[in-house]
Amino acid sequence: MTEFEALQNRVSVRSYEKRAVEPEKLAELSGLIEEINSASGLAFRLVSTGDASVPAVKLSAAMFSGAVSSCALLIGGADEISSEMVGYFGQKLMLRAVSLGLGACWVAGTFDRKSVEAELTGDTRLWDVMPLGYATEKVPLKQRTIRAAIRSKSRKLEDFIESDHPLSTLPKWVMAGVEAVKDGPSAVNQQPVNIVYKDGLVTARIWKENANALKYNDLGIAKYQFQVAAEAAGVRGFWNFGDGGDFIADN
Ligand SMILES: Cc1cc2nc3c(=O)[nH]c(=O)nc-3n(C[C@H](O)[C@H](O)[C@H](O)COP(=O)(O)O)c2cc1C
Repeated sequence: MTEFEALQNRVSVRSYEKRAVEPEKLAELSGLIEEINSASGLAFRLVSTGDASVPAVKLSAAMFSGAVSSCALLIGGADEISSEMVGYFGQKLMLRAVSLGLGACWVAGTFDRKSVEAELTGDTRLWDVMPLGYATEKVPLKQRTIRAAIRSKSRKLEDFIESDHPLSTLPKWVMAGVEAVKDGPSAVNQQPVNIVYKDGLVTARIWKENANALKYNDLGIAKYQFQVAAEAAGVRGFWNFGDGGDFIADN
């Protein structure tokens, strides 16, 4: 599965089979985490009990069913740029997990923090955990209801783009990126990030004034989603970090 196919297939998985992730898949995710940490200065870690009956993290039973024996700890600085990087690189990790056939979920709140040993140093913070496991083939009614309830607040595609041009005239790769932002995860589905296309320049900004404390995680996630979809539509590029940061397309 390509990274873009993983993006299209991804949903937050909240029901897991009692099945351990194979060591080869964990090794691949570990390798990616090493790359991420050395490129970014983040301190992501993979924890795995190696035993399907021993959970790596205690997820809230009100939201999740089943358990995972592997989980990524998304650790980084407490400042806004670090928070955004956690989002950007965390989404890269999530899409790799999905492309390996795994299910995952961003979890900032609904887990027991005492159940993981984050070993935080200095001013680092455990922003989120990301359970990694196998989604049950049939999603239980409870988890289907949770997703339908949260996702029902979703905005329309045109609400994600701010532009001085009519939407129909925007480049296809920009619209592909905007669509990926719409389909991406965000904390309590707040969807606080818009893409701005003005004078041929693409930027990403947090439009929602009262968005919650995870809005910079969401900003990084949105930027990564945009980048993967733009590349699948033929335009490679990279983002400058920061609220209002721009997308630099390779020529
Ligand atoms: C930063 C962040 C934190 C999240 N925290 C939680 C959480 O604590 N518990 C949970 O069940 N889902 C959590 N989610 C998942 C969102 O609820 C989910 O992405 C959103 O409802 C959209 O649904 P989808 O991911 O299935 O498309 C979080 C998502 C993000 C991006």
